[in-house]
Amino acid sequence: MKKLIIINGPNLNLLGKREPNVYGNLSFTEFFEAVKAKYPSVSLEYYQSNVEGELINKLQEVGFSYDGIILNAAAYTHTSVGIGDAVKAIETPVVEVHISNTFAREEFRHQSFISPNAKGVILGFGLQSYELAIQSFIY
Ligand code: DQA
Repeated sequence: MKKLIIINGPNLNLLGKREPNVYGNLSFTEFFEAVKAKYPSVSLEYYQSNVEGELINKLQEVGFSYDGIILNAAAYTHTSVGIGDAVKAIETPVVEVHISNTFAREEFRHQSFISPNAKGVILGFGLQSYELAIQSFIY
């Protein structure tokens, strides 16, 4: 059984409440339960933190044994050399995801410290971005 983990960065714990016009009305927990039920053949875990160092600790913890990491580092995507370095340091492939199309938004969201070392990038499909990332690991 493939072992995958979704790692979400800052403010993504507020999904459903936060700027619903950009990020939708569904909480991540509701979405996660539905997606887990849809892909029973994979072991799917979820971790969220608002703290940069905790995200790095989690990447290091899972990054030498899991089959895939689906990472939405949220605002840290655009600022964190440390998270970018962690993605480079680990062995498990990382798919970078974003709910919104960051290229259609402010210029500061066009830069990513994750992308250069990601296996691929999926963005702009709402919460479906996560599902497409799961599919990229199983098909
Ligand atoms: C985001 C895009 C980021 O620019 C933003 O800071 C987020 C969410 C997305 O999923 O669309 O918090 O990563």
